[in-house]
Amino acid sequence: MAEQAVKRVRTRHFQSAKENGIKITGLTSYDQLTAGIFDEAGIDFLLVGDSAGNNVYGYDTTLPVSIDDLIPLARAVAGAVQRAFVVADMPFGSYETGPDEALHTAFRFMKETGSHAVKLEGGVRSAEQIRRIVSAGIPVMAHIGFTPQSEHGLGGHVIQGRGDQVKQLLADAHAVEDAGAFAVVLEMVPSEAAARVTQELRIPTIGVGAGPHVDGQLLVWTDWAGFTKGRIPKFVKQYANLRKNLTDAVTAYRADVEGGSYPGPEHSYDD
Ligand code: KIV
Repeated sequence: MAEQAVKRVRTRHFQSAKENGIKITGLTSYDQLTAGIFDEAGIDFLLVGDSAGNNVYGYDTTLPVSIDDLIPLARAVAGAVQRAFVVADMPFGSYETGPDEALHTAFRFMKETGSHAVKLEGGVRSAEQIRRIVSAGIPVMAHIGFTPQSEHGLGGHVIQGRGDQVKQLLADAHAVEDAGAFAVVLEMVPSEAAARVTQELRIPTIGVGAGPHVDGQLLVWTDWAGFTKGRIPKFVKQYANLRKNLTDAVTAYRADVEGGSYPGPEHSYDD
């Protein structure tokens, strides 16, 4: 029997997931190997995040990341998936000056990578950029709450939407929905505030440290897989211990080479 073609996730599936109470799953990915694994496991969307700054390029923050840094990574991820919806992150300095700059950046990601959507940070302040990109037929995932590209302006990794700040969070959420975003990421927001946004919006909310009352979850894969060195945020559940596994493997490899047990006859061309 012929194999059935895999059906690509589309923006309408995000919307129908929200309407039917089906949770959406997302992970970041920066390369074709992880993208292929996550896709086969049925993760709905992959974000080629500017968190590549910390996880691929070795920067302290996402601020130095450029469009040219992300384009090859987004191309690798988009080229490796059959079902997952691929979202390319627009880096700091690539959209803030206005809708024209934002559209130009979005065009580059869509034309040069094969991604299916772009993401940018900011609520009210980015609404005009979102409107312009969407009007050109490009889906936009918005990102509000804690926005890492503004970490210095926000005074560090600070939870957003506490107490009276919920008004600003709601204003940002409505602004991106009205501008045409198909989904919105809520990062580091108290569960109650995230629940309120989720209830008020028609578009799905994707939580990154926003508790359980959202329409989907997104995690940085290196944190989620226990690959990251050092402290990881409280909201991350680690599903693997990749750093320890790789450390054990490389230690064993070195011992085998130094002790002469690798390569053995089974790894040699002697027959
Ligand atoms: O770049 C990224 O990984 C992100 C997520 C943390 C939302 O923007």
